[in-house]
Amino acid sequence: MNKKTVRDLRDADLQGRRALVRVDFNVPLDDARRVTDDTRIRAALPTIEYLLGRGARVILLSHLGRPKGKPDDKYSLRPAAHRLAELLSKRRVRFVAATVGPEAEAATRDPAADVVLLENTRFFAGEEKNDEALARQMAELGDCYVNDAFGSAHRGHSSTEAVARFRKPAVAGLLMERELQYLGAALANPSRPFVAVLGGSKISGKIDVVEALLPKVDALLVGGAMACTFFKAMGLEVGTSLVENDRVDMAKALLARAGTRLILPHDATVAPSVDQPAAAHAVKRDAIPAGEAMLDIGPDTAKSYARAIATARTVVWNGPMGVFEKPPFEAGTTAIARAMADATGKGTTTIVGGGDSAAAVENAGLADRMSHVSTGGGASLEFLEGKTLPGVAALDDA
Ligand code: 3PG
Repeated sequence: MNKKTVRDLRDADLQGRRALVRVDFNVPLDDARRVTDDTRIRAALPTIEYLLGRGARVILLSHLGRPKGKPDDKYSLRPAAHRLAELLSKRRVRFVAATVGPEAEAATRDPAADVVLLENTRFFAGEEKNDEALARQMAELGDCYVNDAFGSAHRGHSSTEAVARFRKPAVAGLLMERELQYLGAALANPSRPFVAVLGGSKISGKIDVVEALLPKVDALLVGGAMACTFFKAMGLEVGTSLVENDRVDMAKALLARAGTRLILPHDATVAPSVDQPAAAHAVKRDAIPAGEAMLDIGPDTAKSYARAIATARTVVWNGPMGVFEKPPFEAGTTAIARAMADATGKGTTTIVGGGDSAAAVENAGLADRMSHVSTGGGASLEFLEGKTLPGVAALDDA
């Protein structure tokens, strides 16, 4: 990685100083406004502890949800602060219902707090516009800036991009470093065979990553409803499966260019609807019934994808193979997760892109058997597409 990290900060940058840290605490909440998945909060702990251990006071900024540029209690970070306080039980964690300005600044100097979590950055319309005036106010909240929000690194916002220009040093946190190392090494210098597994419902959201990965991988295994758009491009019956009709020509062109490295499911688990799990059955891909939809890759495909993963030395996975929230349509997704977990045990580097695939691996209890599970959904996808992440580009060069 060609960016400075917290390890490059000197003691004088930290001892008795305020470290302003952008984290991604965009976590799911239930109706009682409790955090239902604290993965992203736990993932930020190493950086927080690193800074505290060097005598810094830690000031945290994050967004939560999409509150449209004005305060909305539904999107308050208070529940995340509760969870953080539980996880950091030996530290004094304070939540402040202000993001910038006198109240926030005063809190950053509160001797009774080790860690201060400020209110949602997206309560300001300027945040998503990468507004410089807002970023300058944010810069006043710390003596150095640390970006540990890999999940938001694809957003060029005041708290992820502009602020890094106004508060120096501006460095990556330990989570950001780890994410970039795993994803970066897979793209730049993968041990081979290098296998990518791509799923999800829409080919439109994955086309750039398919294009970017095809020249790099030894095999690209496709699953999820996006396979059906390819099937349609091949002239197969897809029944009532989810198909992006406006992308069929694009899929056709891609198939013509891709050669043998692009691998599609050869069977499918289908049913009249996702609400009729008892009617689920497997068919060859050229035998999808007119009134039924593909809801998962079929068992033969799951086996052959698992074999491909077993022989790989690097595996990157993004997107579920089927409707994994609804059994039995989780089988293909679980088979990929198991095959990757087994491969990790044999020395293969296994990387799960964030979002749904990370949730699936977590549900299957296999997250700790992967080399790396990314905390970034959109961010990991954009990184795999080869795009520059604004939140990374803005940091100090190493
Ligand atoms: C995410 O969950 O992918 C990040 O927190 C970014 O959120 P956003 O898509 O609302 O910008």
